[in-house]
Amino acid sequence: MGKPSTARPPSVADHKTGHDLMGVLPMTAEVRDGHLWIGGVDTVELARDAGTALYVMDEATIRHQLSEYVKWTRYHWPDVDVVYAGKAFMSLAMVRIVAEEGCCLDVSSGGELAFALRAGFPMERIYVHGNNKTPDELAECLDARVGRIVVDSFEEMERLNALALERGMRQRILIRVTPGVEADTHDFIMTGAEDSKFGFGRNQGLAMQAVKRALELPGLDFDGLHMHIGSQIFALHSFAKAIEVIVEFIAEIKAETGVEVRMLDTGGGLGIAYGLPDEPSTIKDYGKVVVDGIKEECEKHGLTVPAMAVEPGRSIVANAGVTLYTVGSIKEIPNIRTYVAVDGGMSDNIRTSLYDAHYEALIANKADRPREMVATVAGKHCESGDIVVNDAPLQCPEVGDVLCVCATGAYCQSMSSNYNKQVRPGVVFVKDGGWRWVVRRETYEDLLKCEVG
Ligand SMILES: Cc1ncc(COP(=O)(O)O)c(C=O)c1O
Repeated sequence: MGKPSTARPPSVADHKTGHDLMGVLPMTAEVRDGHLWIGGVDTVELARDAGTALYVMDEATIRHQLSEYVKWTRYHWPDVDVVYAGKAFMSLAMVRIVAEEGCCLDVSSGGELAFALRAGFPMERIYVHGNNKTPDELAECLDARVGRIVVDSFEEMERLNALALERGMRQRILIRVTPGVEADTHDFIMTGAEDSKFGFGRNQGLAMQAVKRALELPGLDFDGLHMHIGSQIFALHSFAKAIEVIVEFIAEIKAETGVEVRMLDTGGGLGIAYGLPDEPSTIKDYGKVVVDGIKEECEKHGLTVPAMAVEPGRSIVANAGVTLYTVGSIKEIPNIRTYVAVDGGMSDNIRTSLYDAHYEALIANKADRPREMVATVAGKHCESGDIVVNDAPLQCPEVGDVLCVCATGAYCQSMSSNYNKQVRPGVVFVKDGGWRWVVRRETYEDLLKCEVG
């Protein structure tokens, strides 16, 4: 198992072709007639027909990943909810796929809830997150009759109780606990350590206080605990350690209150391959470590095994997606570097500037040729830090080429912006040789529609 690719690999022309990049591409990717094809669609033709910049998502990969989670968690325990974390990528089409695959949905804002409602997603399968849900958002969740709200603070707990009582309701809740476990990942996506804005710290006694308060409040139905230790985690032992800690806490709850926790939600976080050296754990191994781990720990403490939930986001959609760009200009600075500028940038992929993320790239119309040079793929924004891929091995680029950045299905479209009043790319789903818009490309009219005056 390798380390996640937040650290950059050495920048060398690696002479790899598209054939060698299958580990980071959607499962239907292939090189045909020198072009990169995904879902039976020639991406070069797609770029011409749909325009660039463009997010392309492979429906087969998305469905496969969801079904792998269902299979390899329920293999070990029948009562596991697979909760897709909508923050990774959300559109109406995506929400419908999640529903069709029998999964649940994690929403983290009123806006994400609005998507679930519009898509006709079953509300009892919704899990609501967020460290500062507004009173309006909480009311919207209650009125929509969502399944579970994951409570993140004492203020929220009191607020939610009052809103539920006003409506004559009792809302099922989970309490988010920070187990004090440092996941092996980038600091900005590590959330389970003591010093985190999320949840109730177990070590300072706040989590126990929260459970006791929830048990007193008549508008709340305490269902269990939630934790999420971070994202892009390669080392499964981080999950195992957190499970040890949280099940110990479940035993403490039973000892102090007599209450048995009915559900344990262990969050998301499984890492994916962004770079060629990455070897993330499989969903099969993850299912074993997490689900068997909970069972074993419960046995150790003499506890009834609770219902479980896992909340994958990135590992469902990241490798299902690529971004296609058109090369607009090439700037060669002798003995320094070559910049290849594309018709997008930090507005459609902020992860490189935010986390120093690394991606693999290839020229889609030269997919069978070796990556003979190293170039930095730059965006078109007014920031020097507007880089999509630093020091990318690449086929020799020419203006007009279709440049494909791999594994951009998670946290790219969902974190996109209109910086420089750039219109956001559309999203197409490819499947069985056809493609369809699931989010159309924005227009200047879209940019202007909220302006007053
Ligand atoms: C509460 C919660 N659940 C699930 C996820 C999804 O994590 P990942 O995309 O790493 O699987 C996140 C991501 O931030 C999260 O905050």
